[in-house]
Amino acid sequence: MEIKMTLKPERERNSDSIKNAESLSFGKLRSDHMFLMNYEGGVWKDARIVPYGPVEVMPGAVALHYGKSVFEGAKAFRHEDGEIYTFRFEENAKRMNHSLSTLCMPEIPVDIQMEATLKLLDVERDWCPAQPESSLYIRPFVFGTEDALGMEPSATYTYCIMLSPSGAYYPGGFKNTVRLLITDRFHRAVSGGTGSAKCCGNYGQAFRAAKLSKTYGAKQVLYLDSSNTYIEEVGAMNHFHITKDKTIVIPEFTDSILKSITSISVMELAKSLGYEVRQERIRINDFIEQVKSGDIIEAGGFGTAAVITPVCEYIFENNEVITVGDCTIGENIRKIYDAYTAIQTGDAEDKFGWLTKVPRG
Ligand SMILES: Cc1ncc(COP(=O)(O)O)c(C=O)c1O
Repeated sequence: MEIKMTLKPERERNSDSIKNAESLSFGKLRSDHMFLMNYEGGVWKDARIVPYGPVEVMPGAVALHYGKSVFEGAKAFRHEDGEIYTFRFEENAKRMNHSLSTLCMPEIPVDIQMEATLKLLDVERDWCPAQPESSLYIRPFVFGTEDALGMEPSATYTYCIMLSPSGAYYPGGFKNTVRLLITDRFHRAVSGGTGSAKCCGNYGQAFRAAKLSKTYGAKQVLYLDSSNTYIEEVGAMNHFHITKDKTIVIPEFTDSILKSITSISVMELAKSLGYEVRQERIRINDFIEQVKSGDIIEAGGFGTAAVITPVCEYIFENNEVITVGDCTIGENIRKIYDAYTAIQTGDAEDKFGWLTKVPRG
């Protein structure tokens, strides 16, 4: 693929700001450039890297009215050798295509998504921070641009990749446990819907429940399936728990659950660390009972942004609280977090082949 480059002059680039920052926020900063490509006449074309800035769309663009918009989230890391490495980006590219096909949008070959991302990362390599728990967050997205009021598939789309130099997801880093609200009134996704796709509609409708969770002092919602029988997801993370016999249990990936790349990677890693790993439909009533009996000793969420969010308490809308462990980060979660992040940062051998070095030039 030919990628046209329109780069900012050297003197207008300012990645120095991140090098000396004591702490970096998550997702707020932008690098100098972005990748763009358009879909028109049945083909993806006009691949280019340009200065980061506004993208013009008509007010009638279908993405703005009918949610024809999907996205991904991945990370790149700076290693001690000074090189930049992406983490399992092919998996993100495959999931992007799953989301695109779910929303009847045109897929983008995985090798093209990969090439575009590696090229942009090469141009922006100075924006990849080196501080502990930091990364260069990668946000690819596709949106329908046809100016058409009606539920028709868009004839035109834009694919964009932007980058955000980021620190730890939780200010202060991996050190706290959180509370989750269990509600039977709000659901993230339903069977037959779009829950397994990373599409904007799934997130837009979740703000109401997230807002409710804050009134309970909770960080997020533990969503149940629409029959209020099974555990599904936590906000923008897969849920997991660890039993006292050291089995890691993750809800089975149904069509209302996003297949988390962190989950599939942790499952592989945890097996190599001697854990049993299981995926199944988890009844909320069984889960509550096992937390109360102490059979479940640790729990939390898996996702790219925070990697692992350990949970200390679950609160119900009647204010009943159940507690997992002693509200500190459990030893199993810490062990998995340390092993996982050591691979990402290059402190441990990449024995699963998860990293791709960003080529120079
Ligand atoms: C709904 C949802 N579930 C789970 C995840 C975790 O997925 P991953 O580990 O690929 O980031 C995310 C974040 O992408 C998400 O938005």
